[in-house]
Amino acid sequence: MLGNFTYCNPTKLYFGDASLQYLNAELLKYGKNVVLIYGGGSIKRNGIYDEVTEILKAAGKNVAEISGVMPNPTLEKLYEGIEIARGHHADLLLAVGGGSVCDYAKAVSVSVNCEEDPWEKYYLRFEEPTCEIVPVGCILTMVGTGSEMNAGAVITNRETKMKIGHVFADEAIMPRFSILNPKYTLTLPPYQMVSGIYDIFNHICEQYFSGEDDNTSDYLSEGLMRSVIHSSRIAVKDPQNYEARSNLMWTATWALNTLVSRGKSTDWMVHMLGQAVGAHTDATHGMTLAAVSLPYYRYIMPYGLAKFIRFAKNVWDVDASGKSDEQVAAEGLNAMENWMKELGLVMNITELGVSEEMLEDLAQSTLIQTDGYKVLDHDEIVEIFRNSL
Ligand code: NZQ
Ligand code: ZN
Repeated sequence: MLGNFTYCNPTKLYFGDASLQYLNAELLKYGKNVVLIYGGGSIKRNGIYDEVTEILKAAGKNVAEISGVMPNPTLEKLYEGIEIARGHHADLLLAVGGGSVCDYAKAVSVSVNCEEDPWEKYYLRFEEPTCEIVPVGCILTMVGTGSEMNAGAVITNRETKMKIGHVFADEAIMPRFSILNPKYTLTLPPYQMVSGIYDIFNHICEQYFSGEDDNTSDYLSEGLMRSVIHSSRIAVKDPQNYEARSNLMWTATWALNTLVSRGKSTDWMVHMLGQAVGAHTDATHGMTLAAVSLPYYRYIMPYGLAKFIRFAKNVWDVDASGKSDEQVAAEGLNAMENWMKELGLVMNITELGVSEEMLEDLAQSTLIQTDGYKVLDHDEIVEIFRNSL
């Protein structure tokens, strides 16, 4: 490990099927005014809304609501939420939902007391907040993003067709606490479940496929990837399997709570390609990643061959004997492709609504990262999108 780094993750986690009982103790730490933030209604259908509001009521909280936070939350919706949180003089933003709701709560938290336009400040200029932050707590209902224990907040500007994630440097933006009850994820539709599973896996890949130093993080990543593969196979056959869903929930948190990126460079180019697809189609996040991943990894494989060989051997148990380096690396990606198909992931962007004429615009919306094995230019990005059709 060659990098210099600091590591601090202040999010307190409560994990397991009894974890909601700790909400009350957390609520005691904040003032009376709580803004409850949730999505399109799944929490009303599965009973989580009633459970949470009962605890808020018993704690004597004065509750306002921001409902209807959509997957891939929009800037327009952010402006609406900022007004509600300001009007309510929020002491705590309580997000109950998936990554979209948690991200959205963080974006509101850094904007309530900010006089500047949040899109300009946080998403175009990538500045850190200079105002007081309203604390965020999460009750997670969808597994994948890691938003429950990180400082990322992705917002989509539908007008300019830009979907941008700001991973804030200040750990104060991470949720103060997150309640992770695997049971809450059992009502997820299969499409969302597998999309989230691939999101977890790709977060690990984004941090693994970069750098050449011998790094503890890469060993941790291999273990996490093996766990995701194992549990996903069980969960796809038996979605109500608590043990598998519980492992997936925990790996999702560790995949993107900043630990495995410490001391090494990271790539994130699959996310940039996927976010461009998301900005133009509003497709489900994990599926956008699945649809572009293999064309991207096959394209960059020659530039990071040693890591792709290691991936094949240590993650997919590819037997290297008698094979060339290129063959071994390619077999690793083939094994990954077979697993992705086994899960039923969307394997091309056509299925997500992209057509040939959109490729130039997609490439224009793609932010180029510079720490992976190959820095892509515009034409290469178009080519990768074309190979993803
Ligand atoms: O809105 P409701 O009705 O709640 O339905 C949601 C939504 O339609 C549904 N859902 C959630 N929990 C459920 C449930 N349905 C039934 N039972 C449950 N228990 O699932 C749908 C998707 O939810 P969403 O929150 O959008 O999914 P996800 O967790 O994948 O979040 C995606 C967002 O997170 C961003 C993505 O870009 C996207 O905007 N990301 C955030 C990251 C971060 N903070 O670090 C990193 C990620 O790479 C990602 O970019
Ligand atoms: Zn992701």
